Amino acid sequence: MKGMLVACTLALLCQLTAAGIGEICCPSGWERYEDSCYYFNTVKKNWVDAQKACKDMYPEANLVEIGDSGENSFLKGKLQALNFDQTWTGANDAFEEGTFRWIGSFDPLTFTSWKSGEPNDSHNDEDCGTIWKAAGYKWNDGICATLMTSICEM
Ligand SMILES: *[C@@H]1O[C@H](CO)[C@@H](O)[C@H](O)[C@H]1NC(C)=O
Repeated sequence: MKGMLVACTLALLCQLTAAGIGEICCPSGWERYEDSCYYFNTVKKNWVDAQKACKDMYPEANLVEIGDSGENSFLKGKLQALNFDQTWTGANDAFEEGTFRWIGSFDPLTFTSWKSGEPNDSHNDEDCGTIWKAAGYKWNDGICATLMTSICEM
């Protein structure tokens, strides 16, 4: 949800259209929704490496922070189109079991879309948030070491 007021310091990387000038522009390969840019990482990584991959692309990027149902629907549509399976988000409760926070802002989750029965911290080993295709793109807590696709946001 964090705004990306790059104001085209990334101009060479931004794909400007006439309508887009003056609006937020996203680097090539990133998709805009409202005031954020998203990167859908097809390379499966564990949660820590997925977060690191975001930072390695842009220091201000983090695993996605989902603020409302509109943003959640946008992401769901993209994951369907890309046919991603279970996919990492920025939600994590490793800091305090049971209290999920977004890794970028460290804010506790406000909007949520958990699958019913989740998060269940299965085997005391699930601390990392996902969007789960098999659950109709509802959210789950996954084992952080699992290799999955991921979504970065800035
Ligand atoms: C807990 O959630 C996992 C998915 O992360 C699921 O596979 C498992 O069946 C669930 N366990 C229980 C007891 O509901």
